[in-house]
Amino acid sequence: MENQEKIKSLVQQMTLAEKASLCSGKDFWHLKGIERLGIPSIMVTDGPHGLRKQAGQADHVGLHESVPATCFPTASALAATWNRDLVYQVGQALGEECRQEKVGVILGPGANIKRSPLCGRNFEYFSEDPYLTGEIAKSHIDGVQSQGVGTSMKHYAVNNQEYRRMTIDAVVDERALREIYLPGYEIAVKGAQPWTVMCAYNKINGVYACENGTLMTDILKDEWGHEGLVVTDWGAMNERVAALQAGVELEMPGTKNGNDAKIVAAVEAGKLDEAVLDRAVERILTLIFKADATLSQDFVCDMEAHHALARRVAAEGAVLLKNDGDILPLQKTTRCALIGRFAKVPRYQGAGSSLMNPTRLDNLHDEMLKLLGMDSLPYAPGYTEKGDQADDTLIQEALAVAQQAEVVIICAGLTDLYETEGVDRMHMKLPPGHDALIRRIAAAHPNVVVVLSNGSPVEMPWAGDVPCILEGYLGGQAGAGGIADILFGEINPSGKLAETFPLKLEDTPAYRTFSGGPATVEYRESLYVGYRYYDTVGQPVLFPFGHGLSYTRFAYRDLALSQPKGEALTVTFTVKNVGKVTGQEVVQLYMRDVASTAFRPAKELKAFAKVDLQPGEETEVTLDLDRRAFAWYDPQFKEWRVEAGTFEILVGASSQDIRLSAAIEMPGAQPVAERVEPDVYYAFPKGAAVSQKDFEALLGRAVPPNQEARKGQYTFNTPIGDMRESFIGRQFAGMIKKQLHKMIEGKEDTPMALLMEATSREMPLRGMLMGDTPLNREMLEALLLMMNGRFFKGLFAVVHAILKK
Ligand code: BGC
Repeated sequence: MENQEKIKSLVQQMTLAEKASLCSGKDFWHLKGIERLGIPSIMVTDGPHGLRKQAGQADHVGLHESVPATCFPTASALAATWNRDLVYQVGQALGEECRQEKVGVILGPGANIKRSPLCGRNFEYFSEDPYLTGEIAKSHIDGVQSQGVGTSMKHYAVNNQEYRRMTIDAVVDERALREIYLPGYEIAVKGAQPWTVMCAYNKINGVYACENGTLMTDILKDEWGHEGLVVTDWGAMNERVAALQAGVELEMPGTKNGNDAKIVAAVEAGKLDEAVLDRAVERILTLIFKADATLSQDFVCDMEAHHALARRVAAEGAVLLKNDGDILPLQKTTRCALIGRFAKVPRYQGAGSSLMNPTRLDNLHDEMLKLLGMDSLPYAPGYTEKGDQADDTLIQEALAVAQQAEVVIICAGLTDLYETEGVDRMHMKLPPGHDALIRRIAAAHPNVVVVLSNGSPVEMPWAGDVPCILEGYLGGQAGAGGIADILFGEINPSGKLAETFPLKLEDTPAYRTFSGGPATVEYRESLYVGYRYYDTVGQPVLFPFGHGLSYTRFAYRDLALSQPKGEALTVTFTVKNVGKVTGQEVVQLYMRDVASTAFRPAKELKAFAKVDLQPGEETEVTLDLDRRAFAWYDPQFKEWRVEAGTFEILVGASSQDIRLSAAIEMPGAQPVAERVEPDVYYAFPKGAAVSQKDFEALLGRAVPPNQEARKGQYTFNTPIGDMRESFIGRQFAGMIKKQLHKMIEGKEDTPMALLMEATSREMPLRGMLMGDTPLNREMLEALLLMMNGRFFKGLFAVVHAILKK
């Protein structure tokens, strides 16, 4: 209260220009302060799985160095732990490192839904399921913020691909928005109040996220009660005044684009109510003072403890996908061979803005030596660094090494070039060199354990030929130790997939429409994302959502449902460890609405818990279901509805391993009414073919045209690479490309090069005003005139802009 008064009084003392100035950053990573009023400048930095604090040159794509920090497993692995407490501890550790480095906000977690396995940033996201996403995000945020530093839950919203991420228009129906793409944010906002939410680059149903008042104000602030502020993704600002009105308080990074002045001008011209600006400044000051209160005290964290935590989390986020013949765990005396370059040069994080500099980096080879107390291990690299083709010499060498062993551990996965921000994957396959190695070794040896390092699902055409597969995800700096712990039974695996592993890309629900472009991407599959699709249409998968094996077994019994209280319910059941070792089980509760006016997927995750049991021990699990667990979103009445009738409660060890079920009649709720949605969604087709007409009927409007802008129509939002019809546009695009190439000299064959390449094609013209640039808006406007064929007018304007400068 006292603080709020102080903040209000500060706002009163500020000039209009000072207020506007606070609405954008000072530079890449700092907010502005105002010395005369004692307002400090605080630092924010990436995120999400470790701190990327740049002490020198700044960038938002992972180009320049950052100070060493603990690299935790990335989001895919965190979600696969299904362990709220453990994720909280990771958050806490991240928060401590922020305090040590004097960082006020860490930019994460990412809560976008994995619509397709191909999204280049899936490694940074949690799940294909909104409930799991929300629960894990909430724990992450709570953990960080317990340290008095903030988070930035991103990228709000419907940013499910990298292709044309800065301009693409995600065309999505309201139910999918409310039931799939928003609940992750909703759960975390209501449950953990992230100090900031980061608005995405893309458009949602025709409106840029940054100008989307429905999302930023009506839903986030008014409906969910978000108390923090909204910050743009770096360079996501379109029209500053519109964005402020829509509820976006802070623009990052700092720019020379004249946006602060636009705010001043809009207030002066009576086009922007100064009260809107005042409220934005109040939120910004609240953030600054909260962070400053923490950062004004020095803090030193225990980096050894963080490394140990990172190892524990990596082990718990690893998912044992297959273990035929119980080959795992291995005995310490088992004669092992270690094959695959990743065993010595681990793949442990993804590329782009989350790329950070670990304090140290373990590898499986050395971790196994330590664990086994040995001096050497039979090892062969098996594939080249790029792995882009089978290398016969390396495979022959690997075969020779494998032949002397009882068990062969093959480390394979995706190389850096496959997973990076800014670029979606083209396919779901492993590098050919990795596939070939696995096939050849599997043909020659019966006891193969494949350990995978990748941030998102891959096809495994050899899955039937090997007895064991351990998905290690991107395990962070201590990931290798965590894998060693699992392989040798120091830790009993308890990770479960937070996403489906399809058999092949063609089986995925968004296959026909991902990633759209040039202008729009249509979410025709609506609610049928991930297991909601596979289970509804009966599409076989490689490994289902929620799947993961243990070295022990669990038995489920005695499912009981309480009498519904209103439209809420308590579910209890007993789980017993019936195996020989201690283990943790993730128990999952799915719901099926048996008869409904609205179309609904075959099952939806509504609750889960992780229990830890000694051999022979049992426990009663209690899971609460609130009204929302039964509800669907009715776009017509703009409300969550629960209809009278039967609901099935399905309890199990995965989405396809349901052990207990019971039906419940929900009384007193709304009666089932008439179906109004297009038929195709009630009996959703295998193959997910939905016609434009049906999709339009679901949307309630025509889909927007999906075309590139033509010369004469180019705007600040036209991607630079699309201005091909203009000679000047082509020259300009060429120039940008050259400049970006200069930045990546010596890094040609790296993810960074791919990212830069994509950026040079896809960045809209307005992106040129981001950060430290010699250009200004007037110059770009002049250039735009020329690109649109108004050469002389443009030329005149360019000269004018240069002279003015
Ligand atoms: C990414 C964000 C990141 C920001 C700052 C953007 O390009 O999309 O996730 O936090 O840069 O580096």
